[in-house]
Amino acid sequence: MPIGNPMHPRVSWILLVFWLSFSCFPGLISSAVVTLKSIEIYKTHEMLKSVKPVVYFRCKGENKTDLPDVKKPNEVYNFKGEESWQPLTNLTNNKCKRCGFYEEDSFIKSDDIFDEWEFCPSDFPHGIYTRIKEKEMNATFACPQCIPLATASETAPDSRNEGKGMHVFLVILIVMAVSTVIIFGMVAAYKYWQKRKRQQDQARFLKLFEDGDDIEDELGLDNVM
Ligand SMILES: *[C@@H]1O[C@H](CO)[C@@H](O)[C@H](O)[C@H]1NC(C)=O
Ligand SMILES: *[C@@H]1O[C@H](CO)[C@@H](O)[C@H](O)[C@H]1NC(C)=O
Ligand SMILES: *[C@@H]1O[C@H](CO)[C@@H](O)[C@H](O)[C@H]1NC(C)=O
Repeated sequence: MPIGNPMHPRVSWILLVFWLSFSCFPGLISSAVVTLKSIEIYKTHEMLKSVKPVVYFRCKGENKTDLPDVKKPNEVYNFKGEESWQPLTNLTNNKCKRCGFYEEDSFIKSDDIFDEWEFCPSDFPHGIYTRIKEKEMNATFACPQCIPLATASETAPDSRNEGKGMHVFLVILIVMAVSTVIIFGMVAAYKYWQKRKRQQDQARFLKLFEDGDDIEDELGLDNVM
């Protein structure tokens, strides 16, 4: 069918537009704020037990966030998320940061590490993340804005992948429906145009015949005469 070829660019255009509009949507949320909900340290790293620890949080390349209240081990400190030093940090699309809790050292040696890890938006599929390091600390973070980031994340395991699969399936379904409608429309238009053309050709042909008859009549008359 001659119509087969010119249809391809059009269908792929629609496919592209659909793909772009759907895949860009989760990208609209670019930054999510992370707050500390609670923390408990299980020990301090100071040799002199009388010295109060100075605990702080830091992500690589960012400023320190001191936790002025956290002074005693084995005590749970809860926060509202509105404290002067909150939020702790921002997380952006599908990008992890290297962050940790540290204790400032009163001697010249480098600061002690409670825990250091890759902090990712996908840690927050339900907006809450608990980080536990044995014998060191237990901290709970909140990031409600991370939920769409976690859902959009490629690395998100388990139930989140189902959502993504469903999403892709829906997009494919819509694209297929739209292309089917377009193909049928174009086939119908082509058929109609073909029919019209045939009718016109027929009319022209008949007209030609009538004209031809006239000429023949004239010629016949000439011959007789
Ligand atoms: C980090 O601290 C410095 C100096 O206190 C300040 O100028 C800078 O704006 C801070 N950066 C961020 C991201 O808060
Ligand atoms: C975090 O993002 C908010 C807005 O999304 C911005 O106002 C704030 O400065 C950011 N903080 C850091 C530390 O990047
Ligand atoms: C860590 O802290 C959270 C919140 O305070 C608590 O629910 C959880 O049981 C703690 N986990 C451990 C292992 O201490």
